[in-house]
Amino acid sequence: MKKLVKQYSLVAVASVLGLAAIAVVICDPSKVNGQMTAVQRWNPRRVPADTVFVGDQACGECHKKQFASHEQSGMTMAMEPIAGSVVLNDNPKLSMRVGPYTYEIKRNGKHSSYSVTDGKDTVSYPIVYAFGQGKMGQTYVLERDGKFYESLVSFYRESKSLDFTIGAPRGVPASLTDAVGRLLTANEVASCFSCHATGAVVSGTQLRLDKLTHGVRCEACHGPGGKHITAVKEGESPAKSIYNPGLLGGDELTQQFCASCHRSAEESRTLQDLHINNVRFQPYRIFQSKCYSDDRNISCIACHNPHEPLREDPAYYDKRCLECHSLRDKTAKVGGDGKSCPVADKNCTSCHMPKVEIPSAHFKFTDHYIRVVRPGEKYPS
Ligand code: HEC
Ligand code: HEC
Ligand code: HEC
Ligand code: HEC
Ligand code: HEC
Ligand code: HEC
Ligand code: HEC
Repeated sequence: MKKLVKQYSLVAVASVLGLAAIAVVICDPSKVNGQMTAVQRWNPRRVPADTVFVGDQACGECHKKQFASHEQSGMTMAMEPIAGSVVLNDNPKLSMRVGPYTYEIKRNGKHSSYSVTDGKDTVSYPIVYAFGQGKMGQTYVLERDGKFYESLVSFYRESKSLDFTIGAPRGVPASLTDAVGRLLTANEVASCFSCHATGAVVSGTQLRLDKLTHGVRCEACHGPGGKHITAVKEGESPAKSIYNPGLLGGDELTQQFCASCHRSAEESRTLQDLHINNVRFQPYRIFQSKCYSDDRNISCIACHNPHEPLREDPAYYDKRCLECHSLRDKTAKVGGDGKSCPVADKNCTSCHMPKVEIPSAHFKFTDHYIRVVRPGEKYPS
């Protein structure tokens, strides 16, 4: 099984080299005759320049259920529009001191500003781009004269206050300009917006902020839907006209599709060096598990419906584990034929997917490396 998995992960390399289409044909001939050939393969972060998105509202006309629940999901809120920002409304005045510098994030009606002063001079930016739903926190991307900065300080939910942005240098900035934040390269800017928004980046690096929709929307995952809507309205088969990632195999879905934003096992060497910080990269973490294979029962969508908010009750996930594992009581009518747990019959994830705190994030992430966790063990990076 493990061997098969490694082969599948080569597909990820192939796709990086732009050979995805060929790889699909070689690895899974059954896809060739299916719907996959009718709709061009969609890569969430490689939007071609001529793409026209119709927007979620249009999808909601027919897919009422997905539309209503997706609206409440973390991915839809991956970027907050400033006028309606919950974080900025609920925290109208935030401040922090770093050496001689004072930071202030202040609400004024439907607007917010980010300013830094050294007591003599002050620089102030209107906040236009708020990254993150604020479950962990929120970071601001500030713009002036075509240059983009990542705010040096971010909001954190746990303390409802500001602290250094993850990864930001913690020393006293050398100048007021440095104190604003980190100057982002064009590639970094494109990356941020292509993971947290829809339509804002085309052809890989070209920023189209005029086309931005906040958050990860229907068409970020399904590709442009115009043709599909026309087809349905003209009485043609709806399936042949839009990309459905649900048709991918388990490993491809996890390590390529979801990993295009959540980061794949393929990047493992660089991710290993991040030590505990790599707990944020679920496709990488889950790949380490003995449970992991091409089986869809262990792919990202086995446990997460991308159209719904994250479920926080451990009991919800038991059914997923029991697709493969058995219960101790062999007469039980539920459970697969895999090994059973000698310790417990429920709330599996609470012990086997421990919550791990990244100190600089002030947040406990869920370790997707499913395993027996021994007391006092070192974090296995
Ligand atoms: C006019 C009605 C209508 C609109 C608007 C519409 N769809 Fe559909 N769609 C359908 C029908 C009918 C089906 C087939 C039954 C089903 O899966 O719900 C379908 C199927 C799908 C599928 C499954 C395809 C497959 O191969 O299994 C996806 C994905 C999808 N739609 C996404 C979208 C997205 C994204 C939008 C907005 C861009 C959208 N649809 C807009 C009617 C519509
Ligand atoms: C276009 C980029 C992108 C793709 C593709 C993507 N995600 Fe996400 N996802 C994000 C971002 C960004 C967040 C963080 C949202 C936040 O907390 O602000 C996120 C958050 C999540 C969350 C946590 C939500 C919460 O409320 O804490 C889950 C679960 C999730 N994604 C699952 C998936 C699954 C499953 C797939 C594949 C079917 C997927 N994602 C594909 C960008 C993406
Ligand atoms: C490769 C895709 C990717 C890029 C690039 C990226 N993010 Fe994210 N971001 C994610 C995903 C996925 C999550 C959810 C999982 C996590 O928290 O790590 C996330 C989470 C976050 C969160 C926490 C949201 C919460 O749950 O409260 C913040 C804040 C954030 N990102 C800001 C940024 C900023 C600012 C940039 C650019 C400087 C950036 N991100 C670049 C994918 C990305
Ligand atoms: C983060 C990626 C992502 C986003 C955003 C997303 N979808 Fe999906 N969608 C998927 C995946 C993955 C599947 C396959 C699910 C499965 O097979 O279990 C899917 C399946 C579907 C289907 C087929 C029926 C079903 O539920 O399996 C429809 C219809 C659909 N999506 C519509 C939408 C609409 C409408 C939106 C926006 C409101 C949307 N999707 C947003 C990833 C996404
Ligand atoms: C797709 C099938 C599948 C699913 C779903 C699955 N597992 Fe597993 N799991 C396996 C396989 C296969 C092994 C290796 C078993 C063996 O060694 O015989 C395994 C091993 C384990 C082990 C032992 C790991 C070790 O390092 O020895 C634990 C603990 C475990 N699973 C817990 C879980 C939990 C908890 C869930 C749900 C969150 C889960 N599994 C979901 C297939 C699965
Ligand atoms: C076997 C079940 C399972 C699978 C498979 C799974 N997750 Fe999770 N995931 C969970 C659980 C449990 C949580 C924690 C929910 C809670 O308590 O808030 C979680 C939480 C998350 C979060 C929120 C941040 C955090 O660390 O708590 C993100 C993002 C996420 N998962 C993404 C993914 C992605 C991407 C994949 C595919 C690689 C994936 N998950 C596969 C069970 C799973
Ligand atoms: C209270 C914590 C806890 C809960 C809850 C829990 N486990 Fe375990 N599990 C353990 C511990 C500890 C071990 C290691 C036992 C040992 O080696 O002595 C273990 C071992 C396992 C193993 C490895 C068995 C083997 O023979 O190698 C599997 C598989 C497993 N658990 C699956 C599950 C599943 C599925 C659930 C939910 C139905 C679950 N666990 C719930 C603590 C827990």
